[in-house]
Amino acid sequence: TKKKLVPRTRKEIFETLIKGLQRLEYRGYDSAGVAIDGNNNEDKERFIKLVKKRGKVKALEEELYSRCLVLHLKCLISSIGNIENMKNMCNSRMKRLDSSTCLHAVGDKAVEFFFASDASAIIEHTNRVIFLEDDDIAAVTDGKLSIHRLERSASDDPSRVIQTLQMELQQIMKGNFSAFMQKEIFEQPESVVNTMRGRVNFENSTVLLGGLKDHLKEIRRCRRLIIIGCGTSYHAAVATRQVLEELTELPVMVELASDFLDRNTPVFRDDVCFFISQSGETADTLMALRYCKERRALTVGITNTVGSSISRETDCGVHINAGPEIGVASTKAYTSQFVSLVMFGLMMSEDRISLQKRRREIISGLKSLPEMIKEVLSLDEKIHDLALELYKQRSLLVMGRGYNYATCLEGALKIKEITYMHSEGILAGELKHGPLALIDKQMPVIMVIMKDPCFTKCQNALQQVTARQGRPIILCSKEDTESSKFAYKTIELPHTVDCLQGILSVIPLQLLSFHLAVLRGYDVDFPRNLAKSVTVE
Ligand code: F6R
Repeated sequence: TKKKLVPRTRKEIFETLIKGLQRLEYRGYDSAGVAIDGNNNEDKERFIKLVKKRGKVKALEEELYSRCLVLHLKCLISSIGNIENMKNMCNSRMKRLDSSTCLHAVGDKAVEFFFASDASAIIEHTNRVIFLEDDDIAAVTDGKLSIHRLERSASDDPSRVIQTLQMELQQIMKGNFSAFMQKEIFEQPESVVNTMRGRVNFENSTVLLGGLKDHLKEIRRCRRLIIIGCGTSYHAAVATRQVLEELTELPVMVELASDFLDRNTPVFRDDVCFFISQSGETADTLMALRYCKERRALTVGITNTVGSSISRETDCGVHINAGPEIGVASTKAYTSQFVSLVMFGLMMSEDRISLQKRRREIISGLKSLPEMIKEVLSLDEKIHDLALELYKQRSLLVMGRGYNYATCLEGALKIKEITYMHSEGILAGELKHGPLALIDKQMPVIMVIMKDPCFTKCQNALQQVTARQGRPIILCSKEDTESSKFAYKTIELPHTVDCLQGILSVIPLQLLSFHLAVLRGYDVDFPRNLAKSVTVE
C-alpha cells in the first residue's frame, strides 16, 4: 500500500497475520504455524522461533496468546500447509543470489509489503499485487522490494508487473449465510452473468471470448479437443461434451488428469487441450498441461484464479469470472465452467449456417439462465424438507443419462464430500449392467429426468426402479406430468434448452448436500481430509 505508513504495532502485525491465515484456511486446514523473529542472543545471532499447531488457525491463535508470544513479536512469517523445498532452498541455493540477479524493485517511498500464497489473505490491505513465478525469490530490504531468480537464464523475462485485482473483501466474507458454500450456491444467478458479461451479445447472437480470439483459426483446424480436469472441473467437461461435439463437429475427449497421465495418452501437435481448474493450481491438471505442452499441442486454460499457474502456463484461456470460491465443495465454479465451455462451442460455430438455429436457441437459453436459477433457488425450503427425510440414510444413489449424467456425478460428489454418506452417480443406461441390484425399497434413489432426447429412456429406467419397489425422488421439468406419477417425491424445475438443463438440475443437488451435511452436524466449509487446492499428486 502506498498510503502514508504508520508503523504497525506488534499486536497489529499479529492480528493481521492471524486474520490472513484465517482467510487462507479454506485452502487447507490441517495445521498452521508462524515463525517469530525473536530477540538476538548475546552473540548477536538472530533466532527464529517456530510455533506450529495442528488443526484450525484458532488453535494457533490460542497457543500464541497462552504463551504470551504476541507481546514479544517482531516479525512473522506465517504459513498453512507446506512451504515446499524451503529448507533446501535456504541451505543450498540461496547463496547463488547476487545483485546481478535482482530483477525488480518496487517503490522508493515508504510502503508496506504483504507476502501471501493467495490474494484473499491480503485483499483488505491492498489490491495491488505481483504474482511471483516459480524460482522467484522476493526480498524486502530497507523498505524496498527486490525480486531475484534462483538461477537466471537468458530466456528469463526480468520484469514483474504490478496487477490490480478486482476482488473485494465482501466477496470473501460469508455475509448473512451460515457457510461459504451456501453463499456461493446463492450467488449463481450473478456469477453466471459475470461469466457471460462482455462476451455474449444477445442481440446479434454472437459470442466473443477475448482470450481465445487470436488462436481461433488454429483451434478450428485441430484434429480433436481434449478436455482435462479433476473432480468437479472434470464434471463440467463431461456436462458439456455433447454440446461441444455438436457445435464444433470435432471429436471431444474428456479426461481425468491423473488417469490421462497414468495412461501416457498420445497427444499430437494438432490437438487442442483444455485444462479446467477453479484454483488453477491442481497438481495433476498442471502436470497434464506440461505433458501436453511438451508434445506441442495448443493449450487452453479455463480457470477462476487470475495469475494461477494454469492460467500462466497455457497458451491462451478463458477466465470464468465466478468470483472467489472459498467453500471447499465447488458450486458456482461448476456452473461458470459449464457456461464458459458452452460459450466456446458457440464461438466455434459462428460461421456454420446449419447450426444457426441451434445457436440462437442456446443463446436465448443463456439469457434466461439467471432468472431460472433464481427460480430453482426458491425451492430451497422444499429441498431442506427432503434433506430432513434423508439425512439419516447411509447411501444415496443419483441416476440419469445424456446431458444430465454429469449432474449425477457432480451431485453424488457433493453429497459424499460434505455429508460423508456413500453416494454414487449412475448412468441410467448402465442400470441393467449392475446397479439395478442395489435397488430395493430402502435404498434412496434420486433420478434426474428431463424433457430432452433421453426422456423415454429415462422413463424406462424409472419403471425398472419402481418395479423393484424403489421409491424414486425425481428431479423433473415443471410440465412433466408423466414422471411424477411414479415418483415418491418430485422436485420440479423450470425447463430450458436441453444442453443447459444441467446448470439448473445440479443446483437442487448442491442444496440437498448442503442441508444434509448441516443436519448431520458437519462443518460444511471444512470437510474432513479435503482441501480447496490440491497442489500435490
Ligand atoms: C469438489 C471439488 C474438487 C475440485 C478438484 C479440482 O467439490 O471442489 O473435486 O473440483 O479438486 O480442483 P480445481 O478445479 O481447482 O482444479
